[in-house]
Amino acid sequence: EFLARHALDVEELVRKAAAQEIMPRWRRLAEHEVDLKTGPHDLVTDADRNAELYLTETLAALLPGSVVVGEEAVHANPASYGAIRGDAPVWIVDPVDGTRQFVHGDSGFCTLVALARGGVVHASWTFAPARDQLATAVRGKGAHLDGERLHAGSPEPGRDLRVATSHPDFTTDEQKRALLGLWTDGLAPRACGSAGLEYLAVARGESDATAFSWEAAWDHAAGLLLVEEAGGAHLTRAGEPFRITGGNTLPFTAARDGATARRVAALLSDGA
Ligand code: IPD
Ligand code: CA
Ligand code: CA
Ligand code: CA
Repeated sequence: EFLARHALDVEELVRKAAAQEIMPRWRRLAEHEVDLKTGPHDLVTDADRNAELYLTETLAALLPGSVVVGEEAVHANPASYGAIRGDAPVWIVDPVDGTRQFVHGDSGFCTLVALARGGVVHASWTFAPARDQLATAVRGKGAHLDGERLHAGSPEPGRDLRVATSHPDFTTDEQKRALLGLWTDGLAPRACGSAGLEYLAVARGESDATAFSWEAAWDHAAGLLLVEEAGGAHLTRAGEPFRITGGNTLPFTAARDGATARRVAALLSDGA
């Protein structure tokens, strides 16, 4: 019943984080420092840090007893990730997903927030502020984009699959080989540089499926529920639903329907 009372409050906080901490920097109206985390492809900015701090304080206050797991906080203190497997309700936050696009002035980035408990995601928010698009999902109540119900639907029979993929620097050779299974079917996957927006494309039926080779819950929790509630499905290479608590056989896929998920999961296993 927390969601019935407070879903709109969360939406307001997500919009405020973007309006106060992200968009002025994207528009170059505010101080904008870009730092390297682990290497040249792993960036962090004041927008990432300040938006996460704002969401961490306000979300924790909105739901007493909850904890927050955020990308930048986990970078500073890896042990804080363990809360995903704990008993308390947990807010999973990626303040800026697609930091590279953000830094280059591209509109393809978003803020991701999910509310989970015991490894189950109950609600999620995907907000692309530079496109003014907000997608929400509540378990059992559907997925919506700017208030309109999302139905992923099935791909037209006989047409090529449109598949996306993302693979960060630290993808292992074994996972790269597994992803190659997508190419062997002549699919030529594309990557947009924001995991959250890849999920949204699947939930809207713009993409048939997307494949990922890493587990960090802040990249996946929101989108997995969005795709599920739009009628889609997700499967690991071992043919099981992806678990945000970890221990999955990677890569995994999220697809607009169950049949497509099975087809793409099989391609991922062929590659490996
Ligand atoms: C990144 C994006 C991208 C993926 C990278 C992620 P970030 O998130 O989701 O699609 O390929 O591996 O790190 O760092 O911009 O939040
Ligand atoms: Ca990052
Ligand atoms: Ca991310
Ligand atoms: Ca991020």
